[in-house]
Order: sequence, then C-alpha cells, then structure tokens
Amino acid sequence: MLFDSHCHFTDEGFDGIRPELAEQIRSSELARIVDIGTDLKTSLKAVLASETYDFCWAAVGYHPAEVGSLTEEELAKCLSLCSRKRVVAIGEIGLDYHWEDNPPRDVQQHWFRRQLQEAARLGMPVCIHSRDADQDTLDILKEEAFPRKVPVLMHCFSGSPELARQYVKIGAKISFAGPITYKNARRNVEAADAVDLKDLLIETDSPYLAPVPMRGKQNLPLYVRYVAEKIAEIKGVSLAEAEDATYRNACDFYRLPY
Ligand code: NI
Repeated sequence: MLFDSHCHFTDEGFDGIRPELAEQIRSSELARIVDIGTDLKTSLKAVLASETYDFCWAAVGYHPAEVGSLTEEELAKCLSLCSRKRVVAIGEIGLDYHWEDNPPRDVQQHWFRRQLQEAARLGMPVCIHSRDADQDTLDILKEEAFPRKVPVLMHCFSGSPELARQYVKIGAKISFAGPITYKNARRNVEAADAVDLKDLLIETDSPYLAPVPMRGKQNLPLYVRYVAEKIAEIKGVSLAEAEDATYRNACDFYRLPY
C-alpha cells in the first residue's frame, strides 16, 4: 500500500476532477494521503476534504509565503482546526528564501517559530517546507522543535546527504517527492541513500512537481508510486518493501494505525 504524505488534494488545479480522482485513488494501491494547508482558507478546505474522503487526512498551518500579513488572531483561527479529528499535523510551515517577493526573512522566522511553539503546546507533528534556507531552518528547529519533542518531517527534501544525516540524527523524518526521479537529481539520490529506509517517507506535493515519466504534466497523488519505485531502486529493495516501509513510516509519523 502507498501513502502520499504531502499533497494539495484541494488545490484549484484539481477542481472539477476531484470526484473522479477520488474514485481512481480508491481503486488503486494508494491507501492514504495527507492534504496540506498553506493558509486559513486552504487549511479549512483540507479539513473538509479529510471529513469527506475516507483516504484523506489533513494538515493545517501557514506556509512561509503566506505569512506576510498574518496576525495572532488568524493563526489561532487556523490552528484551532487541530481539534478536528482528521487533522494529523501542523503544516506546511517553514522558511522560503527562494522567491524575492516572499515576506521578509525576519517575518517568516517569527511565524515559523510561533507555529512550532503552538505545535509543541498542542502536541502535533509538523511538516516543514524549507527552500534555500537550510541553516536557518535547522537552527530554528533545534531551538523550538527538537527540545520540545515535536515530531518533524522534512517535506520535499532538497538538502545535502550531510544535512539529511544530521536531521535524522536529531530525530526528524525525511520525505522525498517527484524531483528525486529527475535526471539531474544526484544530490537528492545521495541524500536518500544516506538515510535509512526506516526514516524515509514519500510524497507527491501534487499538483506540482510531477515525477518522471509524468514530468511536465499535472501531478496526481497516484504518481507517488513513481517516487516509491525510485526509493526502491536507491535502497536496493523490492518495490513492495519500499511501499511497505514508507507506508508504515507515514502512519507512525501521523500517528495513524496501520
Ligand atoms: Ni506542499
């Protein structure tokens, strides 16, 4: 069975085809997905999807690109969704220094810390988005998350093998998405190779980042199997073993029974 540990099932990109997509998921080996919020609106959509579709769970929170005018009141509204039964994590939260029009770094850092503090208070795992911000992400997690025993998942990991090892050593899980299947993905492949299968999860981040052989098309949660195939190849295990391990790891991380 497969578990897509991070996707955006309620993204507008899937409007119109979602019921059909749900049917395809139900008749496939993809047993579970987590729909990840990026602000109050998308978090609420994710919660509603999780309460509509049996294979779907939700994460709620503010993506670093969305925190520019965030207030404590809005954050409280968003994270109050954690009381809903199908919400399994806070995310995606983190730092994104890639785009110039993202909020200033100090603003991103402030809301990243605040959401980690709330995750500790609420006893929730966190899904981390980190782009071109390796050191600051690591430093903030070391201050706010690990000492408080907040379970950490590094989503769509793009760092070095050394960084992956460092994260695993302090208790984080590492998730790989479509880019690990790309031709120029040597660093990604080396990072996956550096991490034990017991610490690896897989995801699509769909509708973005379709894996090979679907690269360039709209990504679907179903395509997580291509990521599983790549992980099997890298770790030198059968596809069934890779599926099984990543499925169990995702269940453990999100605290769902197998
Ligand atoms: Ni995402």
